[in-house]
Amino acid sequence: MCGIVGYIGNRTAYQIIIKGLQRLEYRGYDSAGIALYDDEVRLYKCKGKVRDLERLTTGHPIGGTVGIGHTRWATHGVPNDINAHPHRSKNGKFVIVHNGIIENFAHLKNELTNRGYTFESETDTEVLANLIESIYLENKVSVEVAVRIALSKVIGAYGLVVFSADEPDMVIGARKGSPLVVGIGEGEYFLASDVTPIVEYTDKIVYLKDEEIAVIRRDNFKLTNIRNDSMTPDITSVDVKIDNIDKGGYDHFMQKEIHEQPMSITDTFRGRVMPDKNTIHLGGISDVLPKLVTAKRIIIVACGTSYHAGLVGEYLIEEFARIPVEVEYASEFRYRNPIISSDDVIIAISQSGETADTLAAIRMAKEQGALILGICNVAGSSISRETNAGVYTHAGPEIGVASTKAFTSQVMVLTMMAFLLGRKRNIILPEQYRALIQELVHVPGYIEQILSHEEEIRNIAAKYKDATNAIYLGRGYLYPVALEGALKLKEISYIHAEGYPAAEMKHGPIALIDQNMPVFVLATRDKYYEKVVNNIQEVKARSGKVIAIVTEGDTTIRRMADDVIEVPTTPEALMPLLTVIPLQIISYHVALMRGCNVDQPRNLAKSVTVE
Ligand code: AGP
Ligand code: GLU
Repeated sequence: MCGIVGYIGNRTAYQIIIKGLQRLEYRGYDSAGIALYDDEVRLYKCKGKVRDLERLTTGHPIGGTVGIGHTRWATHGVPNDINAHPHRSKNGKFVIVHNGIIENFAHLKNELTNRGYTFESETDTEVLANLIESIYLENKVSVEVAVRIALSKVIGAYGLVVFSADEPDMVIGARKGSPLVVGIGEGEYFLASDVTPIVEYTDKIVYLKDEEIAVIRRDNFKLTNIRNDSMTPDITSVDVKIDNIDKGGYDHFMQKEIHEQPMSITDTFRGRVMPDKNTIHLGGISDVLPKLVTAKRIIIVACGTSYHAGLVGEYLIEEFARIPVEVEYASEFRYRNPIISSDDVIIAISQSGETADTLAAIRMAKEQGALILGICNVAGSSISRETNAGVYTHAGPEIGVASTKAFTSQVMVLTMMAFLLGRKRNIILPEQYRALIQELVHVPGYIEQILSHEEEIRNIAAKYKDATNAIYLGRGYLYPVALEGALKLKEISYIHAEGYPAAEMKHGPIALIDQNMPVFVLATRDKYYEKVVNNIQEVKARSGKVIAIVTEGDTTIRRMADDVIEVPTTPEALMPLLTVIPLQIISYHVALMRGCNVDQPRNLAKSVTVE
């Protein structure tokens, strides 16, 4: 999710906030806004860039020593001026900026509407502004108490800053699932989504923890939890080099996005998977769920990495929901005059939501009466707007051309969908459902474990950086991961790489094997394990180099492969989410060692909006 900057102190807030928002631009966003207090609330916001916001404020009053700013990555409501933040409550006195997703906003909005509240925007955030106001007015409590009560009613994720014209010498920051930090200056305080807007003013930082609330005045900083227990702020001194500040401390967007995956996958299932209730709820398709549950066939259309995610979806939905699935390259599907009926459900997968072939494919299918669903990452994108329903991946902006966190978020959405459909069709029984859900929510932690071995994986990558070709092999769920690993390597390091079902080796590719051919084999413990071990031996018998991705503790393959990378144990159906991580890291470091432009590889665009 995007960016927040807040300030309260003795300096003019405007420049500090604008500069802070510029520091956060690396996170990608679609809109920007600022609210200042100078005897009255002044609010400026627009779709577009921070420079558009600056243009909007030109010639207008921008005084005041209290203010909040925001860069938005839309999740609820298309990117436009009205949906941009900050949002004001109905009486105009509460002003809020928010990163994250309020999953129960519709329920809260209904309650407020029944109490006479009206709304300007489509966002979940404006609901929170009015919820705080309604509690403040009806309960006759302080601003701080109203905020705390309101947050106790919220399901979902937030990093937010709010202030009120009734108590203008105070700002309140709160965090649950979306980062927020406090910078402590001399008689001034800063709030931001990360340290980059703050470090030039102070190195004293407090990283808010989930459900912590910071109540800040010019000369006072109070930290509590949501139950109003007093908390001791853990003040750390940070040393962030300004020079690579534009990627949040990482060297490249791709590396940042690879490392964001524990958080982005958590954002994908947050508020949708409820382990304590043993339920999965995908609000975006709830209206069409009966038609999906009884679908005769699902056709997934996509391109590139999104196509590979679709292939994982085929294995998932056919195994767990027993609904026939076909996966098509959108560019082929749109022209080959396919047979489509009104019983079909088309699922378009697209990170950008703007890929021309995928958009054309769903337009064609819609004309033939099929139900069209979308799995997109960009709210309000063309594909998301032209589908009948869908599930946003909530992966946050993906800037690197090579798709990484979007892929794992797409696979997570397909996993939730397959489990949900399997349960609804009573193919998955309650206890299996509980076990699958319990495992699913552990995936971010497993990915953290894999990421902690980046240095070792980098050392393996260094051995193969001069290869001219590479082969990737996998079976079952891991065949699409082999395709994805090959795409990652070829598109950023320019090494020719091909992915194959491991059993296909004998049908041709084995002729390519020699001592110069690195073969990446996805060989985790599943029903294909013994067969994949045979494939590894076939490669070794022909002097091929084998880099195996194995389940932690595997000693069999460690004896035969040239290099081994371990991933934690998890059910076969969740292995794509883990095994793709080492392949992403390998591609990143090989490309770097070859001096390639990792974030903008030659000849490629982030979104292919033309045929
Ligand atoms: C993957 O790393 C590439 N960037 C590319 O294959 C991409 O997945 C493809 O162009 C589809 O893009 P979309 O998901 O935005 O539709
Ligand atoms: N859910 C909010 C919205 O759609 C905040 C999105 C963000 O994190 O930028 O406006």
